[in-house]
Amino acid sequence: MSLVAGRGLGGAGAPGVPAGACPQTLAALVADGDVVVLSGAGLSTESGIPDYRGESGRRRRAEPMTYQTFVGSAAARRRYWARSHLGWRHIARAEPNAGHRAVAELQRRGLVTGIITQNVDGLHQAAGARDVIELHGSLDRVVCLGCGERTPRRLLQERLEQANPGWDARADAVGPDGDAALSEEQIAGFRIVDCRRCGGVLKPDVIFFGENVPPARVQECYALTERAATLLVLGSSLTVMSGHRFVRHAARHAIPVAIINRGPTRGDDLALVKWDAPLGAALSALVVAC
Ligand SMILES: NC(=O)c1ccc[n+]([C@@H]2O[C@H](COP(=O)([O-])OP(=O)(O)OC[C@H]3O[C@@H](n4cnc5c(N)ncnc54)[C@H](O)[C@@H]3O)[C@@H](O)[C@H]2O)c1
Ligand SMILES: [Zn+2]
Repeated sequence: MSLVAGRGLGGAGAPGVPAGACPQTLAALVADGDVVVLSGAGLSTESGIPDYRGESGRRRRAEPMTYQTFVGSAAARRRYWARSHLGWRHIARAEPNAGHRAVAELQRRGLVTGIITQNVDGLHQAAGARDVIELHGSLDRVVCLGCGERTPRRLLQERLEQANPGWDARADAVGPDGDAALSEEQIAGFRIVDCRRCGGVLKPDVIFFGENVPPARVQECYALTERAATLLVLGSSLTVMSGHRFVRHAARHAIPVAIINRGPTRGDDLALVKWDAPLGAALSALVVAC
């Protein structure tokens, strides 16, 4: 575990966090309240959902789907939904971990006043957090690209099951998008379904790579960041500008940035505090410390 106050740069990670190890600067910032959390995939790895750029992400095989590929190719959509049909079960079964519970507890105590998540797994809410801004949407919903109707993912799951009786492919690896690795043969035999209302193309209600977050949602996050006394980044490499821009925004407004993440992030040189530690243990220690 390493802590650098000032221009923080992470060192090697640690298997656990001993009680009382929470950096004082971090505990003091959080105890002062008005903390806005910006979370990423690293917060959910302890729930069994792989990230993109951490250790679990490097073991992935498939490249993430881009918006352009999804919209431009029926074959790509078939591949996406076949893999997602299996992978979603895994995501839907995932449970919040100690890190999600700690964030919800800090919110209950009134210290965390806003939560922006880049995650699409709903685990903050499952742990009891309220008013979570899902920057990149949620795998729980499906949107029609024709008429814009949003429907629950589980309804689509039922329709896909009906459309594919006897399709018995088994996933041997599940990725961060809730997708799963399948052979070309397994994918070729899968039938996808369209919007019941207008026949339009159905897409998970998440922001794919190559797609922009709706401007109103971005503005809401900028406004939340400006009102924060501290921006606390949890489990994000900040490689994607979509999340990184809020760290830059906080820094521009002289709002302290604190980061808990295993391994380096793109925001390290803007952070007042960087703590390289596993999130479940680190956030539990933080709750005790403040
Ligand atoms: N769970 C999800 O919903 C999920 C999962 C994967 C990707 N995504 C999407 O992909 C994008 C990925 O960007 P990102 O920055 O969120 O993730 P990322 O994969 O780029 O970075 C995750 C970071 O978390 C660190 N990490 C992993 N497990 C950790 C742990 N237990 N404790 C401390 N640190 C840990 C990793 O070392 C890495 O630096 C996001 O935009 C998100 O929408 C979502
Ligand atoms: Zn429609």
